[in-house]
Amino acid sequence: MSKFSKGDSSWFTHDRFGMFIHWGLYSMPARHEWVRHYEEITNEDYQKYFDHFDPDLFDAREWAAAAKNAGMKYVVFTTKHHEGFCMFDSQYTDYKSTNAPCRRDLLREVVDAFRAEGLRIGLYHSLIDWHHPDFTIDSIHPLRNHPDRDALNRGRDMARYRTYLHSQTRELLTKYGDIDIIWFDFSYPKAEYNPKGHEDWDSKGLVSMIRSIRPTILINNRLDLPGTGDIVTPEQNTPEEPPTDENGNPAVWEGCQTLSGSWGYHRDELTWKTEKQCIDMLINHVARGGNLLMNVGPTSRGYLDHRAMERLQGYARWMKYCSRSIYGCGMAPAEFPEPRDSRYTYNPETRRLYLHVMNWPFKFLNARNLAGKVAYAQFLHDGSEVKIQENDPNAPHTSLTVKAPQGGITLVLPVVKPEITVPVIELILK
Ligand code: GLC
Repeated sequence: MSKFSKGDSSWFTHDRFGMFIHWGLYSMPARHEWVRHYEEITNEDYQKYFDHFDPDLFDAREWAAAAKNAGMKYVVFTTKHHEGFCMFDSQYTDYKSTNAPCRRDLLREVVDAFRAEGLRIGLYHSLIDWHHPDFTIDSIHPLRNHPDRDALNRGRDMARYRTYLHSQTRELLTKYGDIDIIWFDFSYPKAEYNPKGHEDWDSKGLVSMIRSIRPTILINNRLDLPGTGDIVTPEQNTPEEPPTDENGNPAVWEGCQTLSGSWGYHRDELTWKTEKQCIDMLINHVARGGNLLMNVGPTSRGYLDHRAMERLQGYARWMKYCSRSIYGCGMAPAEFPEPRDSRYTYNPETRRLYLHVMNWPFKFLNARNLAGKVAYAQFLHDGSEVKIQENDPNAPHTSLTVKAPQGGITLVLPVVKPEITVPVIELILK
């Protein structure tokens, strides 16, 4: 038993699908949110972005509507990324959106708009801060190769930074209504130069302060303090096997993924996933008992560009008909092995098994261990019946009989794949 109390993940494992938003000054260079790291940009040289940040086309209601239509049930918004710029009106810094030309508390607008659409609110907050004068230069800091880095570090004091981190966390949890997730990023206790982990953040103190303000909040697992993470957060990969916690028990988990190869808006990055890949990802996460937190990186003028919108619309088209195989669903019982090129999800309350046909076969699909167990089968997208042939080992073999494996069933499919990106067959168990 961990000595730390846990948040309430019941809504989270039901809702399954959220929107990650990476938005900050880095949307202006538009060359990755780590641009300061890659190009070793000093505070002075980065200042031009602050001086010109003016997202005049930003309307959080448009983002919230797009997320809702896509079937997303919660949002996780970057209050501050590693660059250090605060997207909210913090009383502890001048380096914030209300002081930039935009003069708006962007977080406030996001929170209000997404709540109005009925989505829950998560806040991403970077533990790392490349702008703060007390945050020590380390192996990933923009000044890591500076010839005087040791001398520059002498005046820096992580204790003062820690106070700043804690104060802002308290602000975020007390000034913006009920927050459902706090998503910290990230620890690197094994780095070579000035590694950072739970002592640098005082993760213990941070967690107990958070729990005292909001006992049910979900905290992710990047504070470098075993036992405090409610959510395991693999990124940019889809686990084949469901992740476990530090004790080897099945974990509540959420994969975070990008639509292209960057989290922040990256104008010239071209590895955008197709609509099918995006939908496959959602299915693959839920089929292994996880959530998908899909990221968008808005432009510096404050809108979601057409590449992001097209993918969100792809989700919307699919989720309109197939969300029943996502909400309230998780991994199928082990007694039902997945048929060829397919993924199962399962709703334990309704006892319905959802067969996602990822790659359309010709006419027949065999599913093991379901003989005598299915009361009815239908496509989700149009509610039309899918006929089932049970395997009768004694039936005479004709050219029209397709033999399912012993104890299995054969689903009889139309030759032409239905007009939906990934067809889903709902198997209503007896
Ligand atoms: C990372 C990166 C980052 C991104 C995040 C999302 O660790 O530093 O830029 O915000 O993961 O998971």
